[in-house]
Parts: sequence; C-alpha cells; structure tokens
Amino acid sequence: MKIISSIDELRDQLRGQLRTAFVPTMGNLHEGHLSLMRLARKHGDPVVASIFVNRLQFGPNEDFDKYPRTFQADVEKLEKEGVYVLFAPTEKDLYPEPQEYRVRPPDDLGNILEGEFRPGFFTGVTTVVLKLFSCVQPRVAVFGKKDYQQLMIVRNMARQFALPTEIIAAETYRADDGLALSSRNGYLSEQERAEAPELYRLLNEVAAEVRAGHLDMFELERHAVAKLAARGWKPDYISIRKRADLQPPSAGDLAQGAPLVVLAAAKLGTTRLIDNLEI
Ligand code: PAF
Repeated sequence: MKIISSIDELRDQLRGQLRTAFVPTMGNLHEGHLSLMRLARKHGDPVVASIFVNRLQFGPNEDFDKYPRTFQADVEKLEKEGVYVLFAPTEKDLYPEPQEYRVRPPDDLGNILEGEFRPGFFTGVTTVVLKLFSCVQPRVAVFGKKDYQQLMIVRNMARQFALPTEIIAAETYRADDGLALSSRNGYLSEQERAEAPELYRLLNEVAAEVRAGHLDMFELERHAVAKLAARGWKPDYISIRKRADLQPPSAGDLAQGAPLVVLAAAKLGTTRLIDNLEI
C-alpha cells in the first residue's frame, strides 16, 4: 500500500484510473471501517482510503484535540484489506491556505437533527468530502448508514453538483450486543460500554411500535427520550423521520406508508453516541 500525503503525488499515482472506489475516514479504524473497504472492493478497483481528522467539522467545544489518532495500527489494518493507496494529508496538505470557500447544505437538511446540535458540522463534512473527491476523483465512494444524515447530505451534494461519483451506502456494523461500532466508543468506561447497547434496543422498541400501528410519533419519541433519560443518558433527540428527506412524516405520509427511519443522539457520561434504524 502506498501512503501519500501530497495532493500532486496522489494525482500522479491515480492518473488514468477510471474505477477508483474511495472510502474517506478520520482514522482510528475498526471493523465497521474495514467493512466499508470490503464493500468498496466490490464496486471498484483500486480501493483508496483516506485518513484525515477534519478540523472544519468539529465545534469549538468538541473533541478535535482528543480525537483518537492511531495511524500505525490503521495502516496495518488497511494493508491487510488490500487497499492500494492511503491518502493521509496533513492539514497543510489539504488546507494550505484557510478554506474560505465552503459547501453549505440546505438548511432543511443541514440544520436539523445532528445539524441542530452541531452547528456547522455538515458544512465541514461536505467541504472536506468535496475536496477529497476532487483529489481522488473516485467513480464510487462508500459511506456508512450509521451516519445516516451525513450519507444523505453527501448523496444530495453529489447529485446537485453532478459529481461523477456514485455514493454507495454500507449497512451499520454492530457489536454482538447491538452497539453500532464508532471510534468514539473508545471513550466509554466499562460500565458505560455495558449500558451503551440500550440505545439500539430502544430504537428497535420504537420501530416495533410503529410497525404495530402506533401512529402518534410525538408520543413515541417523548416516551423513548424519557426512558433513556431515566437510565442516566442525556438525549439530544430520538426522532422518527421520512427516509426520503428526513422531515417528520405527516398523517398523509403515514397513511401512504412512507418509508421511515428513527434516529437518535444521546450522551452517555461525556460520550455522545448516535444511531438509527430504518423501520
Ligand atoms: O464520517 C466520517 O468519518 C467523516 O465525517 C468523513 C466523511 C471522513 C469526513 O471527514
């Protein structure tokens, strides 16, 4: 595997490649990331991964400085997966001058759910993703459904800018007890780790209620938030939305059987976890 940090070198290395499959990451790779690499391999060749902890998508009080950086272990994992190039730019490589041009997702998608609790987050994500796409020029790029809203925002961006990159969605990779794998799980204490699968259990409970015909979404959400809070979590939201646009479903949408997804974000101790489940 070639490890490349400069944009020019990356372009030289990938010149003429028309079927590149790309997986952008922020490192601290776990089985979930590796499953994205395997899916990428099914959709293209060569597979290119990136590791870049993108300052633009962290708020001033978020964990940019303490975000886990495990470069050597990551390299070994990617090598085992047969990744052809790891693009690992420094901040100077990717942002040699202040990144003043940014891509701002529309408010009705970028400022809801995660965007409401992490202002500017999605602008940071779309800006770096567009820039990484411009460097790698992939034919396909793989994003996990664990970051459901991110996946939708990136997909819409690719469509609206007519990017030549197809966005492939990968199923969420879960531990045996249901917890969605995330780099931030490493922040959990042993006791918190034992409690963490409760989030997914609750999403399943909400989904089961909806499937059973319970139509008062607000009541279901309120009840789920209260349950989580009673166990010591600090929920930001548990919200049932339409899969098509992540807006709340109207009575008409529910009557017509619009496909739904329930999304959640909550803090356990100081660790903020997100998860979702398609209903
Ligand atoms: O999901 C992530 O790890 C990041 O948001 C991404 C897509 C690599 C952009 O920095």
